[in-house]
Amino acid sequence: MSVRHWFGPHGKSSKGQGHPIMYGRPKAALHFDAFPDGGGYPHRFLEWAFEMMGVSDPSCVLHLCSGSVRSGITVDIRPETGAQIVADCRKTGLADESFDFILADPPYAADYAENLYGTGVVYPKPGEILAEAGRLLRPGGQVGLLHFIVPMPRKPLKIVGVWGVTTGAGYAIRAWTLLKKESPPYNNSLEFTPRAGGSG
Ligand SMILES: C[S@@+](CC[C@H](N)C(=O)[O-])C[C@H]1O[C@@H](n2cnc3c(N)ncnc32)[C@H](O)[C@@H]1O
Repeated sequence: MSVRHWFGPHGKSSKGQGHPIMYGRPKAALHFDAFPDGGGYPHRFLEWAFEMMGVSDPSCVLHLCSGSVRSGITVDIRPETGAQIVADCRKTGLADESFDFILADPPYAADYAENLYGTGVVYPKPGEILAEAGRLLRPGGQVGLLHFIVPMPRKPLKIVGVWGVTTGAGYAIRAWTLLKKESPPYNNSLEFTPRAGGSG
């Protein structure tokens, strides 16, 4: 199956398009290396995500499926990305409750993973990524997932917000879901927990 219809009005696949520009934030971005594979975070996305999560020190953020990200602690299955830790994001081998902030940008489907990165056989489903993130986060820690799917929140994670991320008219929109690790005893409700004082 082709994935080209996901990426824009010009009939091209995402291959070779690196980092698209996040609509409304067309400024120079930090944190990235070149990423000719395509599928990179939109420019300025990380700065915005750090703001939303309250990250003051980007070097403390764990990036799962890091690709070309060059700040924080990076984990990717492909050694050629230059990730500090070459591992499957579903089983990183990192210690329990060792991070306050995690960001994940996996491929959005197995065929997309295979087409762009040759990683279809290790395609990580959102729930699998969140299970590992839930293990790695300290209580009160947050994980942000960029995906076409808004994941089902599972204990100990609770959704605190979902934002649409677009790179402009005619392009597919993605959801950035922010989840927080609750402290036990866990609330079984699937309802969202609104961010304090936040309307958007
Ligand atoms: C959408 S790209 C991430 C791009 C990154 N956000 C950037 O801005 O450069 C997805 C990345 O996930 C990696 N990946 C795919 N399956 C993985 C897995 N099971 N564990 C860890 N990384 C994986 C791929 O190698 C690829 O670099």
